[in-house]
Amino acid sequence: MRLKIIGSAAGGGFPQWNCNFRLSRAARTGMAGVHSRTQSSIAASVDGAGWVLFNASPDIRQQIAQTPELQPAHDAPLRSTPIRAVVLTNADVDHVAGLLSLRERQPFAIYATTQVLATLEANSIFNVLDPALVPRRTLPPAEELAMCDADGHDTGVTVESFPVPGKIALYLEERSRPEANFSSDAGDTIGVRIGGAGSRGSVFYIPGCARIDAALRKRLADAACVLFDGTVYTDDEMIAAGVGQKTGARMGHLAMSGDDGSIAGLAELRIGRRVFVHINNTNPVLDENSAEHAAVKAAGWEVARDGMEMEF
Ligand code: MLT
Ligand code: MN
Repeated sequence: MRLKIIGSAAGGGFPQWNCNFRLSRAARTGMAGVHSRTQSSIAASVDGAGWVLFNASPDIRQQIAQTPELQPAHDAPLRSTPIRAVVLTNADVDHVAGLLSLRERQPFAIYATTQVLATLEANSIFNVLDPALVPRRTLPPAEELAMCDADGHDTGVTVESFPVPGKIALYLEERSRPEANFSSDAGDTIGVRIGGAGSRGSVFYIPGCARIDAALRKRLADAACVLFDGTVYTDDEMIAAGVGQKTGARMGHLAMSGDDGSIAGLAELRIGRRVFVHINNTNPVLDENSAEHAAVKAAGWEVARDGMEMEF
């Protein structure tokens, strides 16, 4: 199975359009060791011809332009795409807005939890994807499911979804009492185990996670690869940077560092490759010359870049 990280940044991308923090500035000026990144998405394929996307980011047009595998083959029909299905891990803007760019009466399938499908249903703009052409299918928890295209042909990619501690999208919170929607575990945010015919070992994609509990630790033990939420390095990083009021925890994202952080939380497990994805534009690991980047590498983690490819 081939995996491509087509977007390694969190919501907003890197640099973010309105961000003048030192990291976004460094990315704009092309500073050595600071690379621009598009928003959160990966692609998987077992035959190199049909691809399953995990999340559809607002940068999807640029991501397809940067990824020949996701473009129509030269001998394909006048309208065609190698993208057979899109799996959504939550309803965040950075994970669903790209669906709008996949209109043009092109068949493919959407897979998501009932909660996320309800959000698409409640927002009529998503009807630009006519459900007659673009079926919306429920991703049941704890069941390995074959990912099929709009016509039901198996792509060879399988997905097992599981709820992770997280929260609903910021825009779905009740404005007067956001805490009512905080820390939901019921499928508002999921992680996925991605498999495929002939693939070696389990690959997990978890771009949003608020906490590492015993169940998650057990699930990830012995994984060949874990692509994990790398939004912030420290919980209060956005506040310290002066760009916002929210902590990572408030956004449903666990920090990399600290006793309760993801590096410590997964340290004891025998995971083949550990890769941070969904990296926010305030995270110092975006600077390859930073002490934080060195610390993450020393702890056995990789920091994803757009275009990164892996084979399992
Ligand atoms: C998140 O991951 O918390 C969201 O993508 C934030 C956002 O909507 O930008
Ligand atoms: Mn996000």
